[in-house]
Amino acid sequence: MWNSPKVGILGGGQLGRMLVESCNRLNIQANVLDAENSPAKQISFHDGHVTGSFKEREAVRQLAKSCDVMTAEIEHVDTYALEEVASEVRVEPSWQAIRTIQNKFNQKEHLRKYGIPMADHRELVENTPEELAQVGEQLGYPMMLKSKTMAYDGRGNFRVNSKADIPEALDTLKDRPLYAEKWAYFKMELAVMVIKTKDEVLSYPTVETVQEDSICKLVYAPARNVPEAINKEAQALARKAVSAFEGKGAFGVEMFLLEDNSLMLCELASRIHNSGHYTIEGCALSQFDSHIRAIMDLPIPAKSLEIRQPSVMLNIIGGATPDSHLKAAEHALSIPNASIHLYSKGAAKPGRKMGHITVTAATMHEAETMIQPLVDVVDEMRA
Ligand code: ADP
Ligand code: NA
Ligand code: MG
Repeated sequence: MWNSPKVGILGGGQLGRMLVESCNRLNIQANVLDAENSPAKQISFHDGHVTGSFKEREAVRQLAKSCDVMTAEIEHVDTYALEEVASEVRVEPSWQAIRTIQNKFNQKEHLRKYGIPMADHRELVENTPEELAQVGEQLGYPMMLKSKTMAYDGRGNFRVNSKADIPEALDTLKDRPLYAEKWAYFKMELAVMVIKTKDEVLSYPTVETVQEDSICKLVYAPARNVPEAINKEAQALARKAVSAFEGKGAFGVEMFLLEDNSLMLCELASRIHNSGHYTIEGCALSQFDSHIRAIMDLPIPAKSLEIRQPSVMLNIIGGATPDSHLKAAEHALSIPNASIHLYSKGAAKPGRKMGHITVTAATMHEAETMIQPLVDVVDEMRA
């Protein structure tokens, strides 16, 4: 058996919780930095957790003292704290990677140097209506106004349909550092989970993601009706993008498949990712298993990243009432082949990710048919 180091995790939400599930199965102690009783801590009983925030310097220092390798379930962490503790503990992926990636504009400027195709974009410096109107002239309408930082689940995006939308767009995203992106007319959104190890860059197959109100709703693994050549090309693009960053672990790469079948990067995350949840049931090694193995330099057979059965993942998102996610889960209990994951985050708020369901089957058609009644239930409960 390997000499098991302690893993420190910045963030104890659902992604941290699923990382802890993987650690638990390998007898690895995971020390979580987050609020008391956060979802990840609830399933891991020992005295190594740290109470506080991944944005607090002192709390990060304290976590560093208690572990040998440190990682994060979220990119919005204090990377200056990580830089400081990197001399004491291994930080995976590197603080440099997290720092660049957490600012989406810097992320894209960095990736541009590596020839990664992306939607044309412009930085805003003054955030004035005049400046944005000028950018609108250059990029055309519609365009997407985006926050450079702290953006997730569409919170940070505003679709600007015409010059008339500019005041509302700036008002909605006011006081945030901004950039604007040319509209991407995609026919499908694709995603690939990439696993960077000490000497390899591996990838899971290409999946199809469906966003509703800019929040991931459904994931189809593998992507439906996408030729094998595009599946391979998307994996290659994702690996190339992730290779531009230092450090080990899982990275989630979101892409657009355009009308002419060309691919464009949407954004990349330096962590395990919602588009990879299907791997828990769909693959021999989940993205969480692979992340832990990668940061601990344990073997990851490439074969274990292949899809064993077509899978569909449905997010359970906070709906009209505080318990609608529980009603969805209850319904899922009777769905054949449905695996239920509730995150134990307490009361739901509209748009908050409360859990997910994965159905696997011999064919994609069968998996789609089995999950459809649940999709209908979730649609009815939408806030
Ligand atoms: P987030 O961090 O919120 O996920 P993304 O950049 O991934 O931010 O944007 C969320 C969603 O908004 C994307 O999945 C896509 O559906 C849509 N989107 C983002 N950028 C563009 C764009 N340039 N053109 C068209 N749609 C976009
Ligand atoms: Na994001
Ligand atoms: Mg996204």
